Amino acid sequence: MMRPMVPPATLAPLLACPACGTRLTGDACLACRIDYPSLAEIPWLMPDPRASLIEWRGRLHHLLTHYGAEAARQRAALARVAPGGLTRQRLERVAAAFDDQAVRLRELLQPLGLERRHEAHAVHVALGTELPLTQGLSSYYANLHRDWCWGDEENAAGLAAVLQALPAGTRPARVLVLGAGAGRLAYDLHRTLAPELTVALDFNPLFAIAARRIAGGLPLELYEFPIAPRTVADHALLRRLSALAPAPAGLEFVLADATAPPFLPAAFDLVLTPWLIDVLGEPVPRQLQRINSLLMPAGLWVNHGSLAFADADPALALTLEELLESLPDAGFSRPAAAEAQLPYLSSPASRHARLETVITFCARKERDVAAPPRGRELPEWLRRSDLPVPPLAQFRAQALSTRVYAFLLAMIDGERTVRDMARLMEQQKLMAAEDAEPAIRRFLLRALETSGERPSF
Ligand SMILES: C[S@@+](CC[C@H](N)C(=O)[O-])C[C@H]1O[C@@H](n2cnc3c(N)ncnc32)[C@H](O)[C@@H]1O
Repeated sequence: MMRPMVPPATLAPLLACPACGTRLTGDACLACRIDYPSLAEIPWLMPDPRASLIEWRGRLHHLLTHYGAEAARQRAALARVAPGGLTRQRLERVAAAFDDQAVRLRELLQPLGLERRHEAHAVHVALGTELPLTQGLSSYYANLHRDWCWGDEENAAGLAAVLQALPAGTRPARVLVLGAGAGRLAYDLHRTLAPELTVALDFNPLFAIAARRIAGGLPLELYEFPIAPRTVADHALLRRLSALAPAPAGLEFVLADATAPPFLPAAFDLVLTPWLIDVLGEPVPRQLQRINSLLMPAGLWVNHGSLAFADADPALALTLEELLESLPDAGFSRPAAAEAQLPYLSSPASRHARLETVITFCARKERDVAAPPRGRELPEWLRRSDLPVPPLAQFRAQALSTRVYAFLLAMIDGERTVRDMARLMEQQKLMAAEDAEPAIRRFLLRALETSGERPSF
């Protein structure tokens, strides 16, 4: 359930409205007239709290639909397998695990208020709020298992790299971990450096809720579904996620967007970005401005992870050299970076694992630079509700494609074959029939997949 936010005493004096940057009064931004809520006692400080709640609720619905569909697919496959034998065991095991995982996640994420979701599934599909699983609640899901079950070696290596990057004797008072994920590094740093406050910020409620609970000393059981399971049993493993000991006071979780962090300027003396700057989808120069403004004078920024700007604008897909070169312009010292080859997500249950060359560096803030605008850069007519939406060429092209989709779907009457449909496309001068046949097949398959249910043949 969403309740009014009651921030912990150490956090309250640092909080600012994520939408406009004004200091919060209790749980409210008086300038924006927004009362910020909390979710499972975690401050929910998204710029538009209601809209983001609806989005994450939609993602939970999507994930549960996916689990249901996966369980059904495993059971359907049983019909094609002889009685007895390991394959049957595997299918039954995985189907039961997907069902059970759905129950567990529904319960854990009950504060998202799934029962309040009244919108039709089709409306979300059309509006694109049913996100693919890669952008959903289960993105980076394996991190939970690494952080709190089998990943001691990887977690220790990450912590050691960060500690080594810090100047000797660093004793920060206030630490911010942006994109904290499943929370282990924030927990380990909090225990090791003993600051008065460590804030673990992420926008994924599954991570924040699970991590807060585990770090608070309450273990959690969830399934791991490894990429390349070694055995039948490894296909679906109920893992116990737990911390060595409850975190000392002062480790706080915040649900917020790292592109609009809800803090006053100069609130922290150490900011960490572990495995974040290349996945945030925001130009690095802007991220540097923001980190600079979050830091007090002479504060430290530690960056840790690989640099893999897969989909970035080529001008912004920085190598390490370029990133280091840009630091003085962003108000930072130019540090030396350490590189180490480390195993990454090497689950004992999987034959799949990554080996990453991980970069870690620590830059000191040397001067203030102008703070960047909050949140993603959006055109005025999109941010406001009272301006006309311009008839851009991209929208006209989309409108045309949508008419073609509608035409294709309207041809499905239970009688027509793919060939009949291709002929109709040709008659409408949309495409030559021989090209239309494979295109229609691809279209129909995609439509099935978008429905959240993968077809089995
Ligand atoms: C590659 S994971 C790294 C997680 C963690 N730092 C670690 O090292 O295990 C990236 C993390 O950033 C979070 N993230 C991505 N975009 C974000 C945003 N705009 N605001 C807050 N968190 C974000 C994701 O939810 C995910 O937990």
